[in-house]
Amino acid sequence: MHIPLALTYDDVLIVPRRSSLESRSEADTKTRLTKKINLNIPIITANMDTVTGSDMAIAIARMGGIGILHRFMSIEDNVEEVRKVKRTQNLIIQYPYTIDPDKTVAEAKTYAEETGVTGLLVANGDNRLQGILSRRDFIFANEDDKKVSDIMTPREKLIVGNAHTTFDEAKTLFAQYKVEKLPLVDDDNHIVGLITSDDIKLIIEYPQANRDSNGRLIVGAAVGVHGDYIERAQELKKAGADVLVIDIAHGHSDIMFNAIKKLRDAIGDIQLIAGNIATAKAAQELCEAGVDAIKVGVGPGSICITRLVTGCGMPQLTAIMEASRVARQYDVPVIADGGISKSGDIVKALGAGADSVMLGSMFAGTKESPGVVMHKDGKRYKVLRGSASFTQSHTRKTVGLENKKLKDVVPEGVESLVPYKGPAEDIVNQLVGGLRSGMSYTNSHTIAELQKNVEFVRISSAGLKESGTHDVQTLT
Ligand code: XMP
Repeated sequence: MHIPLALTYDDVLIVPRRSSLESRSEADTKTRLTKKINLNIPIITANMDTVTGSDMAIAIARMGGIGILHRFMSIEDNVEEVRKVKRTQNLIIQYPYTIDPDKTVAEAKTYAEETGVTGLLVANGDNRLQGILSRRDFIFANEDDKKVSDIMTPREKLIVGNAHTTFDEAKTLFAQYKVEKLPLVDDDNHIVGLITSDDIKLIIEYPQANRDSNGRLIVGAAVGVHGDYIERAQELKKAGADVLVIDIAHGHSDIMFNAIKKLRDAIGDIQLIAGNIATAKAAQELCEAGVDAIKVGVGPGSICITRLVTGCGMPQLTAIMEASRVARQYDVPVIADGGISKSGDIVKALGAGADSVMLGSMFAGTKESPGVVMHKDGKRYKVLRGSASFTQSHTRKTVGLENKKLKDVVPEGVESLVPYKGPAEDIVNQLVGGLRSGMSYTNSHTIAELQKNVEFVRISSAGLKESGTHDVQTLT
């Protein structure tokens, strides 16, 4: 029997080329997540319950990537997580919260608290603008039983725009009149939207952010293939999720193809990512099943013991090369998922044919990852848990294993501690900096050029040793 060789990141290096890039900033990191969704940086945070909740999804989308919310929670909580990301910033809030002028100040305060907004538009029953209850109106309102109309800033004193007001016009109005909210009205004074100075500030502060057509951050969400997954997918789509990831350990399986068909029938046109797989054949069949991106990686993850438990898997570089060779023919983007522990691995993954990379452990332990900071021996840590770990399988209702007995669970992941790392933004900056340098070493202005220009060499264990720091004691 012929046994072919399969390789992973540490088995290879990329041969440097003469470069025409004068600075790393000339390297353009834009890429495709799916057939219809673009990213400004090729980085996705993994749908693990210790990696991506709404805080992480917000942070990574602002930096130009995307987060995929995990699914180990109720459908209601999952929907709320999507909404949180979508509410974080807008260009135009299409349906701003309003309050009736006859309500009391106390009711207005409660409503503002419930909705989490700092000011409310005041409108009567037919949605005509009557005024604004601004942050300042609230601060000075000390009589709770007064009516909203008694303390609001009335319509005639308001600066307003209309449905055609642009980002630049709004910016100018905010600067000129020092207001915080710009209601948009039609010729009959009906409210048609709202622009806030906070949203404008965020758009300026995060020029790289990935936004949908309404200026809201983009976000993905994972679904499984058992139980409530159809209803979950429908609700997530309704809440505004831009992409769904059908995520199972062995994505080249009948249950996956069945789930793809059922999801397409139930929710139609949403961007669908499917995985995980590790072969050309699996890539071909998923592409033919009509998915919009495929996720590659069987067993490379940091917390993953699939290969040890099952004897199955594929070293990640070979898996990416095989899958992307086929996926390219179908114009389906490839996500390299798992096993990335340094920025050089991202350059190798993209060079091998992936369009983007998904990371778990590198974003675990950051300020935005779900979970509390723990202290041990004077150091700070957070938990990183495999989605198929023993704890996950037994504490979460949505894994599909809730009826199994303890002895019947065969975990394929572990639970671990990772050092606390601070803001995710710092990690992204290091990773993207490394990627840009790697693109410069290969004379690549774009990721497409990187894929064309990459020439790998296999290295020995001595070469690998030489690649890391050696024969010195590092200070940091
Ligand atoms: P890294 O290496 O970035 O990998 O931490 C993240 C990816 O690992 C996968 N994952 C698992 N794989 N058992 C597995 O075999 C597990 O329990 C498990 N949990 C996560 C997943 O693809 C993730 O994106």
